[in-house]
Amino acid sequence: MPANSLNVLEMTPVMPVVQISNADDAVPIAQALRQGGIHVLEVVLRTAASLEAIRRIRAEVSDVIVGAGTITDMSKLEAAIDAGSEFIITPGLTPMLAAAGQSIDIPMIPGISSASDLMLGREHGYSAFKFFPAETSGGIAALQALAGPFADVTLCPTGGIGPHNLRQYLELPCVPCVGGSWLTPDALQRRKAWDEITTLARQALAAVNQHDYQGATDAK
Ligand code: 3PG
Repeated sequence: MPANSLNVLEMTPVMPVVQISNADDAVPIAQALRQGGIHVLEVVLRTAASLEAIRRIRAEVSDVIVGAGTITDMSKLEAAIDAGSEFIITPGLTPMLAAAGQSIDIPMIPGISSASDLMLGREHGYSAFKFFPAETSGGIAALQALAGPFADVTLCPTGGIGPHNLRQYLELPCVPCVGGSWLTPDALQRRKAWDEITTLARQALAAVNQHDYQGATDAK
């Protein structure tokens, strides 16, 4: 069984999905999010800098938990683990990755977008999933429908989530956490506007707390 995969989604109400083009930006981005009250982040393996970004965050930002996202095959899984990732998130689920996730020492959160995906994941022992792409896969209505037959699973919707709709998602009992890229946009990274990333993190947690979320206590 993957260890503690549910805990990853319960550690933060908001999971930044961070695409980093310049490894030198990795530590300032992680620190900016932490300053804004978010201490868990997913670095997506979509750039040449992503593995080095994970290495640097692990080495230099001790109070942040960094995972790897966009894990679409075994080679990316192995590279992410070698870089020091503390958890793994996949956009979808294959039998090979589902089995591999059971044999690693860090939690894996598989991506699903259908009842069949959920059933495959549950057959492999998973109970915590990313719901991706959330908005185009039916959004809140789809999650409410899936919660009927699958009342025992926890989901992190990602894809089309932002300050405008995160509260509605977090009101669902099956959703402890939402994910998204809006917290670390390319434009702010290019300008090295770390204080603005901190502001976005604070605003996200403020929106969460308006919904009376009980777990986010780090926002200052
Ligand atoms: C992901 O990788 O999880 C998504 O691309 C993030 O979606 P968003 O950009 O709509 O937040």
